Amino acid sequence: MKLALTLCLIVPAASWHMVGRPAMRPRTSLDATGVFYSTMTGNTETCGNHIVEALKGAGVDASDLTDIGDADSVDSFDSLIVGAPTWHTGADSERSGTAWDEWLYDTLPSLDLSGKKVAVFGCGDQEGYADNYCDAAGELFDQFKAAGATLVGMTSTDGYNHVESKAEVESGKFCGQMFDEDNQYDESEGRAKAWVEQLKGEGMF
Ligand SMILES: Cc1cc2nc3c(=O)[nH]c(=O)nc-3n(C[C@H](O)[C@H](O)[C@H](O)COP(=O)(O)O)c2cc1C
Repeated sequence: MKLALTLCLIVPAASWHMVGRPAMRPRTSLDATGVFYSTMTGNTETCGNHIVEALKGAGVDASDLTDIGDADSVDSFDSLIVGAPTWHTGADSERSGTAWDEWLYDTLPSLDLSGKKVAVFGCGDQEGYADNYCDAAGELFDQFKAAGATLVGMTSTDGYNHVESKAEVESGKFCGQMFDEDNQYDESEGRAKAWVEQLKGEGMF
């Protein structure tokens, strides 16, 4: 008993905290927005990083960019920004050709996203795949909506050259922010900044 008491007195408080309690970060607004993406050749990651930088520049608290293939959980966030490329041209479903294809149908249906705001971004090639530009972004939009999320961040199709896109969910409106690193890479950073300001205005954060 005497030994136990002596040990208690000499173990510094910080050590007790480290060994005696799980390392828990207090929940603050820093955890408010999660940014998730997938990629085959890195373009969606580039655009996701532009978004993360824009969020920082706009004073928005958000997590770093996370590959959906490595994500343990998305539902601990108040709001989500999710992005995908399109590789499965013309497919009815599983259009991204990345980890989203499995996640959207195996994981998402078990989550309750009601009350969470979700904004979608896509990365595609509007010249080479003009009839299917950013189709996978439209699929993310539909699946997150079906899971009960509130989708925000629609943008105008002005300035794009595509013919058809499943991401164009209303005439002249994309379901979120579309990027094109193949043809308009110099627009991506500005598009990310403008979109983040729009999301702020829509009360996403
Ligand atoms: C085989 C192949 C199929 C593609 N299909 C489409 C498509 O249907 N729609 C589209 O917008 N882009 C399509 N792309 C272009 C890619 O989506 C685009 O290069 C994108 O930036 C890749 O993003 P990632 O590097 O994040 O994977 C395709 C590219 C290749 C090589």
